[in-house]
Amino acid sequence: MIPSTMKAMVLTGHGGVDALKYQDMPVPEPAPGQVLVQVTATAKNNTDRKAREGLYPTRKGEMQSFQMGGKPTLIFPRIQGADIAGRVVAVGEGVHESRIGERGLLDFNIYTDDRRDINLTPDYYGHGADGGYAEYVVLPSDQFYHIPNPELSDAELASMGMCSYQTAMHMLTSANIQAGERVLVTGASGGVGTALIQLCRIIGAVPYALSQQDKAVPLLALGAEAVLDRTDMDSFVDRVKEATGGQPMTAVMDLVGGEMTDRFIDIMIFDMNARSTYPRLSIAGASGGNISEILWTRIYLYQVQIFGVSHGTREEAEQLMAWIRGGQLKPVLHGAFRLSDLHHAEEYFVNRGSNYLGKIVIVPDSQWQEHGKPYALIDE
Ligand SMILES: NC(=O)c1ccc[n+]([C@@H]2O[C@H](COP(=O)([O-])OP(=O)(O)OC[C@H]3O[C@@H](n4cnc5c(N)ncnc54)[C@H](OP(=O)(O)O)[C@@H]3O)[C@@H](O)[C@H]2O)c1
Repeated sequence: MIPSTMKAMVLTGHGGVDALKYQDMPVPEPAPGQVLVQVTATAKNNTDRKAREGLYPTRKGEMQSFQMGGKPTLIFPRIQGADIAGRVVAVGEGVHESRIGERGLLDFNIYTDDRRDINLTPDYYGHGADGGYAEYVVLPSDQFYHIPNPELSDAELASMGMCSYQTAMHMLTSANIQAGERVLVTGASGGVGTALIQLCRIIGAVPYALSQQDKAVPLLALGAEAVLDRTDMDSFVDRVKEATGGQPMTAVMDLVGGEMTDRFIDIMIFDMNARSTYPRLSIAGASGGNISEILWTRIYLYQVQIFGVSHGTREEAEQLMAWIRGGQLKPVLHGAFRLSDLHHAEEYFVNRGSNYLGKIVIVPDSQWQEHGKPYALIDE
């Protein structure tokens, strides 16, 4: 029996965590082509916080969120939460009833056309339409992928959500990363970084992690060839040479930006005679600062190719879902919070300790015992 109201965490405007209100909302009804999903877990992304705080300027001094299609799509009130795992409980017109009961994971994009190989106006569930910080959500049926794998809990499945994994994949495909290439992954312990390390190994590339030394053991276990400490950037080139046997890094998958960008170029160009391809920098995040100073002469004389990356394509989501089903990708789940405790989760996320790796997930209170409690970060 589907209720008429549900608990949801509603974003009421740009601002701090106080802008998030836990309240009753109507359960949405699936339109033609949609499924109604009972949410069991939704992974937290840095993107939620940045959208809430309006930290996606495309000109200096702006405070805004995504509007690549020409107009703002983050309309308040909005339910955030992009990486949704759950079960289909009802279907809209045109969707076969056999889908009811399916456990699945969302391809989080709001696509504006049917193209499978390009996504020019990135937007997503939890931003341009309601997302998973609620008990129920309506989603396009073709973007809610059936992932039956019994070895994966719902919380683990949510932790493999597309916001991190598809972005990571698109960083690699944009830069045309090939087997055998040496790839520096920055922000390596985060959601996108841990996805990048795994994806490099799947395609046969060799990932080097830039992180903090106390995260070295789990990053090596995840597949990193070596872990470089980001707290000592003065000796960075020497440490890269040591790790690679003197070879330049083929490419950099960057989530950090800021003052480090110039160092990332250094490690690709220090010996151009040793290279057989152009240096390539994919950038999808700027956790270390949104402004970098770079000499353009360095970029064009060394022919550094720079790829800006937001989200990815239908094709990439489909491939990733196949790898999840096939067991090639593993969850990196740090822990879970109750939906009603999202304010606390947001603070925990920003002030995370040195043991943090991968993702945290948010579980509706009504699903907590089964799907959240085994991963609880707070003693109850
Ligand atoms: N373009 C897109 O489509 C897209 C999609 C998803 C995310 N993003 C962005 O990509 C970035 C990473 O996302 P995420 O979800 O992986 O975030 P995350 O889980 O918060 O991880 C970010 C990681 O960056 C490192 N870091 C944080 N502050 C830093 C600093 N000041 N200097 C250097 N390193 C720092 C930390 O890793 P270590 O401790 O291991 O160094 C941290 O774990 C974020 O900026 C996010 O907004 C973009």
